Amino acid sequence: MASITIRQLDEKAKRRLRLRAARHGRSMEDEARTILRNASAGEDIGTDPPARHVPTRMPDQQRPRPQDDRPADAGKRVLLIIGGGIAAYKSLDLVRRLKERGITVRCILTRAAQEFITALSAGALSGEHAHTDLFDPAVELDIGHIRLARETDLVVVAPATADLMAKMAGGSADDLASAVLLATDHTVLIAPAMNPSMWAHPATRRNLATLVDDGVVVVGPNAGEMAEAEEAGIGRMAEPLEIVAAALPFLASVGHGNTLTGRRVIVTSGPTHEPIDPVRYIANRSSGKQGHAIAAAAAASGAEVILISGPVILPDPAGVKTIKVETAQDMLAAVTRALPADVAIFAAAVADWRIDKPKANKIKKTPRGSPKLGLVENPDVLAMIAHMASGRPRLVIGFAAETERIIEHAKAKLARKGCDWILANDVSVSSGVMGGDRNTIHLVTAEGVESWPPQSKEEVARALVERIADALPGATGE
Ligand SMILES: Cc1cc2nc3c(=O)[nH]c(=O)nc-3n(C[C@H](O)[C@H](O)[C@H](O)COP(=O)(O)O)c2cc1C
Repeated sequence: MASITIRQLDEKAKRRLRLRAARHGRSMEDEARTILRNASAGEDIGTDPPARHVPTRMPDQQRPRPQDDRPADAGKRVLLIIGGGIAAYKSLDLVRRLKERGITVRCILTRAAQEFITALSAGALSGEHAHTDLFDPAVELDIGHIRLARETDLVVVAPATADLMAKMAGGSADDLASAVLLATDHTVLIAPAMNPSMWAHPATRRNLATLVDDGVVVVGPNAGEMAEAEEAGIGRMAEPLEIVAAALPFLASVGHGNTLTGRRVIVTSGPTHEPIDPVRYIANRSSGKQGHAIAAAAAASGAEVILISGPVILPDPAGVKTIKVETAQDMLAAVTRALPADVAIFAAAVADWRIDKPKANKIKKTPRGSPKLGLVENPDVLAMIAHMASGRPRLVIGFAAETERIIEHAKAKLARKGCDWILANDVSVSSGVMGGDRNTIHLVTAEGVESWPPQSKEEVARALVERIADALPGATGE
């Protein structure tokens, strides 16, 4: 393959590539490689593959737009509150990452934040005046702090310092940041960043619990090295792209209302690992991207979400209780413990079989030849929950990963498993679904089949959440 350099692309192509890369959380080089890989597998560059069926019930706003220069979240507004921590410099990059998706960003810097970065740089990067002072006569003539709190779609606090978290938990309002946080009625997403001892302190744990209880959504902190020499542990602020990824489902839900408020939703995601011995296992290629996107979209719509995830390399979605499991049997036990629920969505690729007698010690090579492995069937988590005599979730939804005769197999699976809906998708290698960012869904219900056009896994998640909200009797809405 001929080699290309991003620099050789014209400005328009570069801009489109930058936006696509930001949307997928990849570098521009990785995005270019993905486009080339998809193109060689048959996808048109920059346009969606043609839909096989016209969607029958998808409202206009759920129809995926053609992949143009405007990401779905373009035009949304974020109010970014920057606290006084060493990670404040990363918030300037966060401003850029949000802006390149077409999101309007307004910044507030606390007094301590201005010891680390300047309002000038935050203002220059956001393209808007950066606010610092509660008693700014120019802004407060028309009660500016209340307008700042209201005229946004999401409030992000990054870095959320220990002090800022304490002020939020205590309801203090003695500066612009805390007053705005108390006045806002929008979702607040915090990205804590502090020394591991500060993070582990009982006072911070209490404040965190209060904030979560108040509906504040938390992303990170991550484990790693601290800015202080020879300090490591949990306390590093989530990376800017992780914060963007956590913010997107909340921005995507703007305008749809909190359609799942008061609902409890269980989602399973990822593969399972079935041990052969202590170091080997049977697995599959599920990445967990679809299940995690569904969990994030349900949480962004106001649901209490319990995500039961097999081993994946994805970050835990913000605002979701994530329970990590390894085997199909662990998954069944975790699902059973998480009940009751209004909705259960089984997006995990649970292994059909496990090794009958996993070995306690690593199997050694011997001259006698290969070991003989016996398989036994795993519990069918979807069918067991769908057939529960009492306490069954009102809506039980399964996925059918098929490589041929997709709809026919999905219809048979719906009948066999006793669930309410099946989302069937083509997972043959050429579809790029397993591990990829896009999905083509056929929603199979007792009423018939709806074929959705190809769209991102986040768009599939959003569409599914809207369908669930429509289907649940007495949806609470906003
Ligand atoms: C060099 C330096 C780095 C700091 N980094 C952090 C930090 O990462 N997280 C934190 O919670 N506090 C940190 N602090 C302490 C805060 O700056 C201090 O608690 C401040 O009052 C927080 O103000 P805020 O509420 O405006 O964020 C740091 C202080 C100094 C001097």
